Amino acid sequence: TWSHGIARLTALLTLAACNGTTSYLDATGSAGRSEATLGRWLTATACAVVLLVCVAIVAGMARRRGERDEGTGRREVKSGLGWIYVGTAVTVAVLLVAYAGTMATLAAASRPPYTPPLVMDVIAHQWWWEIRYSDPARPELGFTTANEVHLPVGVPVRVRLHSADVIHSFWLPQIAGKTDVIPGQTNETWVEAERPGTSRGMCGEYCGLQHAEMALAVTAEPRVAFDRWAQARRAEAAVPNDGVASAGAHVFARSCGVCHAVAGTMALGRVGPDLTHIASRPTIGAGALENTPANLARWIHDAPSVKEGVRMPAMPLDAAELRAVVAYLETLR
Ligand code: CUA
Repeated sequence: TWSHGIARLTALLTLAACNGTTSYLDATGSAGRSEATLGRWLTATACAVVLLVCVAIVAGMARRRGERDEGTGRREVKSGLGWIYVGTAVTVAVLLVAYAGTMATLAAASRPPYTPPLVMDVIAHQWWWEIRYSDPARPELGFTTANEVHLPVGVPVRVRLHSADVIHSFWLPQIAGKTDVIPGQTNETWVEAERPGTSRGMCGEYCGLQHAEMALAVTAEPRVAFDRWAQARRAEAAVPNDGVASAGAHVFARSCGVCHAVAGTMALGRVGPDLTHIASRPTIGAGALENTPANLARWIHDAPSVKEGVRMPAMPLDAAELRAVVAYLETLR
């Protein structure tokens, strides 16, 4: 309990110190809120236990152990067996209450209020996320994106989790708890954002070298804004009319289209992320870099130098080709 309590307290202080980072305690989702409350209760309980143990130790040291025998000079030690029963009973009671509270919270958080029609099929890859939105009642909501999640505020979304390789874990800390992504099976969960805002989603299970760089940009927004975003995701890429971007489209088709898809073009690759709307995403390489033209050029030129172990190879393009490809990708909004 000592080490557990101190570990929890340290974690709490660390989280409190890092303003601006994503913390599950700063919940903005319905399941996340009950889980954050549970986390606070468990932390408070752990602190109370640590305090109680400290008081008991000090009291035990201060207390006279028994009367000194006049003849031998030794103290006669009383058994104190009664306190062992009290201590065991208190420990069992605290653990049972914590267990019951945890189970009840997790059971309640696992059930959406109704079966949500809007579905996100999330496919975890080493080390990026493929996201396929669909809604049987609204075919206009069917599209694929990568490393970004948009959620309509107040609308539960069903999440089906698939893995392309190893075990990962889908985690939007402020919205809901983790759910493991296991190869060969489909795990289900659901998420619901309660307020608009952006946060960072992540992989919650060690999955190899770049486990830490497997992030999701999460945007919770009102339903109308979400629908507008979804409509735009459905749009196919327009043929670029500026000369450099147009040359870039050819370079892309030749050098990148085997691994990446851009809807409406001959690029149909499924190895890497779908890039149909790459320019509108906040990051490159699943959170490895901010999405700017300079970073995009750096990434295409030599992705493994940015994110060691990444499947994307360094591209043998000359400076003009690189500039053209970046210009083309910048048109994909
Ligand atoms: Cu994927 Cu850790």
